[in-house]
Amino acid sequence: MRFTSDGPALIEGPVELVDADGNPLRVDRFLVAICLCKRSRTYPLCDTSHRRRRRDAES
Ligand code: FES
Repeated sequence: MRFTSDGPALIEGPVELVDADGNPLRVDRFLVAICLCKRSRTYPLCDTSHRRRRRDAES
């Protein structure tokens, strides 16, 4: 796993994740971005919403 400085954690796929309710989520991508900001609409996967937060903070 590799943490980015401003967004998700990146892990090599494919992976099977388990959400807080115990539901499994299979992701077949070769690189999977896990949301750490909890703003993603596709949580636990990153949907790049963290970029909007950064832009809002800069303006
Ligand atoms: S880290 Fe990218 S949307 Fe949360």
